[in-house]
Amino acid sequence: MSDILRYHAEQLFAEELEELKKQDQEKRPQNWLLSPQSVVTYLIGGKLKNGFEVTPKYIGSKRLMEIAVATLATDRALLLYGLPGTAKSWVSEHLAAGISGDSTMIIQGTAGTSEESIRYGWNYARLLAEGPSRNALVETPVLRAMQDGKIARIEELTRIGADVQDTLITILSEKTLPIPELNTEVQASKGFNVIATANNRDKGVNELSSALKRRFNTVILPVPESMEEEIDIVRRRVESFEKVMELPAEKPAVEEIRRIVTIFRELRNGVTLDGKTKLKSPGSTLSTAEAISVVNNGLALAAYFGDGRLNAADLAAGIIGAVVKDPVQDKLVWQEYLETVVKTREEWKDVYRACRDLA
Ligand SMILES: Nc1ncnc2c1ncn2[C@@H]1O[C@H](COP(=O)(O)OP(=O)(O)OP(=O)(O)O)[C@@H](O)[C@H]1O
Ligand SMILES: [Mg+2]
Repeated sequence: MSDILRYHAEQLFAEELEELKKQDQEKRPQNWLLSPQSVVTYLIGGKLKNGFEVTPKYIGSKRLMEIAVATLATDRALLLYGLPGTAKSWVSEHLAAGISGDSTMIIQGTAGTSEESIRYGWNYARLLAEGPSRNALVETPVLRAMQDGKIARIEELTRIGADVQDTLITILSEKTLPIPELNTEVQASKGFNVIATANNRDKGVNELSSALKRRFNTVILPVPESMEEEIDIVRRRVESFEKVMELPAEKPAVEEIRRIVTIFRELRNGVTLDGKTKLKSPGSTLSTAEAISVVNNGLALAAYFGDGRLNAADLAAGIIGAVVKDPVQDKLVWQEYLETVVKTREEWKDVYRACRDLA
């Protein structure tokens, strides 16, 4: 077993990418690793002609992935937008891996992101010793992506201040990055494009400037539509987590995952699955990503402090932690759900007891 905690998509799925490339018979846009059709197969999974099985990365609408990939083959950039935990970063990483074979050209947007971290900076020791030269220039991921004709990723675009966001306008519309200090420019190679992600729930985000908005095609990633879809997502992610962490725990029963997903969906939608009981929703987002971590945490508890089998007691603390983010409001919502819904379900007695004991 290797020592790396988290591999990049293109490392983890190197074999799949290689197979897809070998089998690819469609036309590839210049500097793309795969054809647009194969990139979509890489994302949503499928069987190749020789029987090779490509695992699904994104579970949901194929059409959305087609729109995303098609956008990247045009001169417009792609903005993945949506609630927290809807796989925006995940899809962005896999798109970059499938298109450029490289998902590492990434900028994390924060309130402190400066123009230098998007365009280029200077190595001041060199600058003083040699004066302005290409050698003294510090390349950013965006600049490198432009040179190499690859995909640059910008995470949480709307966390970046509006004035700094606008640095991207020249890059996206003129496809060039002027370097006035050296009286030169970097013109983007074919294959260059930008994938940005942004979520619409967080506080403290900036508006996307309208000039910039016009240069992006927005694809909204939805919360998983059906129960089965959401269970499938959680199950797959938990399995890969278990493998990486080498947890001495049994694979969680699908029924256990179903209960978590049920609780999350009912509270999120404000109504029980059978549609009969109206519920109050807590302020927390209760995303699929959080359901995944509740199960992962439960597994770690079961593995190290339990009998290696995931049970209600291992999950209870995680569930409450995910639901009750506000100690007053959310707590009331949770108590009501516990007493009016969980308690009445015959086969949920263990969940009820485990949660009540913690409350
Ligand atoms: N539809 C889906 N298909 C596959 N995986 C999903 C799906 N929805 C959520 N996930 C899983 O949820 C996890 C979290 O996703 P990710 O971090 O990409 O969310 P995000 O939209 O970027 O959230 P944030 O706004 O908080 O940054 C990932 O591990 C991903 O595998
Ligand atoms: Mg993200």
